[in-house]
Amino acid sequence: MTKITAAITAVGAHVPDDVLTNQILETLVDTNDEWITSRTGIKERRILKEEGKGTSYLAIKSAENLIQKTKLDPKEIDLVIVASVSNDMPVAATAVYVATEIGATNAFAYDLQAACSGFLYGMSTAAAYIESGRYKKILLIGADKMSSIIDYTDRTTAIIFGDGAGAVLFEPNTEGLGLQDEFMRSDGVGRHFLKIEAGGSMLPASIETVTNRQHFVKQEGKQVFKYAVTNMADVSEIIMKRNNLSHDDVDWLVAHQANKRIIDATANRMGVSEEKVLMNIQKYGNTTSATLPLLLSDFEKKFKKGDTLIFAAFGGGFTWGSIYLKWAYNSN
Ligand code: UT7
Repeated sequence: MTKITAAITAVGAHVPDDVLTNQILETLVDTNDEWITSRTGIKERRILKEEGKGTSYLAIKSAENLIQKTKLDPKEIDLVIVASVSNDMPVAATAVYVATEIGATNAFAYDLQAACSGFLYGMSTAAAYIESGRYKKILLIGADKMSSIIDYTDRTTAIIFGDGAGAVLFEPNTEGLGLQDEFMRSDGVGRHFLKIEAGGSMLPASIETVTNRQHFVKQEGKQVFKYAVTNMADVSEIIMKRNNLSHDDVDWLVAHQANKRIIDATANRMGVSEEKVLMNIQKYGNTTSATLPLLLSDFEKKFKKGDTLIFAAFGGGFTWGSIYLKWAYNSN
């Protein structure tokens, strides 16, 4: 029997028009362009400003972009997964609304939350359904409206995050292309270092939690940085070693865009040269669940059928991992 692998067969993306530059941030908090650029690599981010529009808006736009590019009939989609930390509402999954709005009337849908590793974990989930033969078309979306949970008086987080969304379609492949291997980990120690304290079951919303600004993301940046640098590099090295991949075999490093220094450290450990390291952090900042599909969308035209992509991510929780995937199509 021919082995079924799970391939990415289409990509779509959306970022809002409003640009939040380092120069604008200088007027909001005590920071400066030089500090932000040298410590993170970020120059600007996109912000969804229109009132009443949540993460689903970004997700729908990215899915529509994919559908329009590929002429996919949304009725053929079996499952829609939205990875996000900024869902429209605490109850009523964002993915369900997205599926309905895009016309995926024969699909079921649910959300997945694993912070900045959400999309990577979603790849694992989508691939497992495809490999088992259970479903044939899975739309995986990474979407976050980070501006809705960022405190623009806190310079340690305000400078990092941005809004955006990206979507990919997973389908069965019989040529051996698509997801080859994965190495995933998590560690609950992380919830002390990167969190939104209130609004969940442990500390429900109250006047006090609002006054104390406990509904915004809080991060102990230095601690998260240390874990991120070590773990993202470790898993990428492991996935290369156990698949006998040398740095020459790797065509592209698709790494979560949290900090240019973390991405550079991962690339160094892998021995991968600069031109293979996909980078768009300078224009979007850290879009949490959306960084990986936004990279795929921005660089899609460079990928060739059979190319070796190494994905790597690290995020709150902590959650992290690496995926080895063979690209399944030429896009031009
Ligand atoms: O995506 C999910 C996972 N998240 C991450 O991977 C993020 C990991 N962390 C980071 O990327 C970095 O830790 C940050 C970018 C958040 C911070 O960079 P850092 O090099 O770790 O800076 P730091 O927190 O050690 O701060 C260094 C100095 C401090 O001043 P003193 O104590 O040396 O006088 C900070 O108060 O920089 C100061 N500082 C700032 N200065 C200007 C902190 N934030 C700012 C700022 N502008 N925005």
